[in-house]
Amino acid sequence: MVSNKEGGITIDRNSELIFQAEQSVSKYKEVVNQDPYRLHFHLMPPVGLLNDPNGFIQWQGRYHLFYQWNPFKTAHGAKFWGHYSSSNLVDWQEEKIALAPSEWFEKNGCYSGSAIDDKGILKLFYTGNVKVEKGNRETYQCLAESMNGIDFLKKGVVLNLPEGYTAHFRDPKVWKHKDKWYMVIGAQSKQLEGRAVLFSSETLEDWLLIGDVAGTNINGLENFGYMWECPDLFHLKGKEVLLVSPQGLQPEGMLYHNVYNTGYFIGTLNYETGGLEHGDFEELDRGFEFYAPQTTEDDQGRRLLFGWMGVPEQDEDKHPTIPYHWVHCMTIPRELKLVNGRLYQQPVEELQALRKNQVSLENVLIQDDQPFTNLDGIAYELQMDTHEIKADILEITIKDCVHLAYNKKEQIFTLERKSLATGEPEIRQCKLNHLDKVRFFVDTSSIEIFLNDGQEVFTARMFPIVENNAISFKVRNGKVTSSIQKWDLDQQ
Ligand code: FRU
Repeated sequence: MVSNKEGGITIDRNSELIFQAEQSVSKYKEVVNQDPYRLHFHLMPPVGLLNDPNGFIQWQGRYHLFYQWNPFKTAHGAKFWGHYSSSNLVDWQEEKIALAPSEWFEKNGCYSGSAIDDKGILKLFYTGNVKVEKGNRETYQCLAESMNGIDFLKKGVVLNLPEGYTAHFRDPKVWKHKDKWYMVIGAQSKQLEGRAVLFSSETLEDWLLIGDVAGTNINGLENFGYMWECPDLFHLKGKEVLLVSPQGLQPEGMLYHNVYNTGYFIGTLNYETGGLEHGDFEELDRGFEFYAPQTTEDDQGRRLLFGWMGVPEQDEDKHPTIPYHWVHCMTIPRELKLVNGRLYQQPVEELQALRKNQVSLENVLIQDDQPFTNLDGIAYELQMDTHEIKADILEITIKDCVHLAYNKKEQIFTLERKSLATGEPEIRQCKLNHLDKVRFFVDTSSIEIFLNDGQEVFTARMFPIVENNAISFKVRNGKVTSSIQKWDLDQQ
């Protein structure tokens, strides 16, 4: 509380914004909870719009996940940092709002960023977004600290925009390497080229520009987008991985069909020059909704990831949850592994704690059309080990809403659904030279498909007719032998 000029009591801007956000949560709580598309085992906003995962960390034994949040509208705006925490990656607790856009350097949003532990203090680095006249913006990289992991004290701006970049410069990811701190930032050069930029610091409060890590017209990469968002750089099995969400890629065959895309480069980072000598860009996820993922290393040494199950400007206003005053969710937590030079993603094993009502079908022969009534479900995990595919195509239809198809002859896997905007069928595909295992996690309004132990992943929202919990299998021209296991995952 502070007193105003007239001697009356006014609430400070931060408390006022937090109060308004809490009001919005309680005002819409009932209507939000009436939505049958509320998910059972995914993180969602209590109201309003959720986007990027932020500040993902295991701190003092507990996992913390913050998220970009507009509590007032189901559209983007001046973002807050919402906050969940968990001891086991399965049961999440909603925490107090971590950051509200109250200060001059963040007045149009506490944008994305990351968390570190510095000698027992939880430190958040994030982008202060400021809109100035004529649609222009300013960007400030900011620090906030917490002793208890719940209440954050803002320390203000630690890095200003350097020469050579436009104000599209954001999303700091910070890590430690050999007693020094490093920060990678998503950027746009003055020539409108997408970039990831490296900084270093001894104190975490003064940052030195090292150089560009990768980007359009760097290290042999040609035109590769006009802006790179949410970079994440980490070490995995002797290599560096740069995860990034470039904007401005054009569709190419089966690739880059979302409005904006996410993928990774694997290579070796030169910490002196900042340069990453890297291989080709690979899409991380082949589905319709996946963007701005963030990783952390936990105390078991696992590289864990959450992604946003949404894509900016991609039919965001067409989601049927909007009349219920909320939109978007996170993916399930996944573990990343480097296998044969590629990133594999697997659901974290803790999710097995959600399993109940197991159904097991051993060595079943599937021919033609096969509805399996005992495999129906609202929220469930299904694992299919395909022992033998002697057929042209294997198809799986879920809730009469999404179709999965493996075309063995063409070695293509396809996910099909109806467009949220037009109702017309739309597809996402990838090449797949064999199919051993199809594992998917179905929730009330989402599906995440892991093929061959995470070799390829498809993530998507889906909005079936409520109470249609059907699943059916179809085999064209032949037969498939497989074992199927299914578990309900009803946490809610
Ligand atoms: C990615 C992004 C980030 C930004 C945040 C704002 O989805 O645009 O670059 O920090 O969302 O909410």
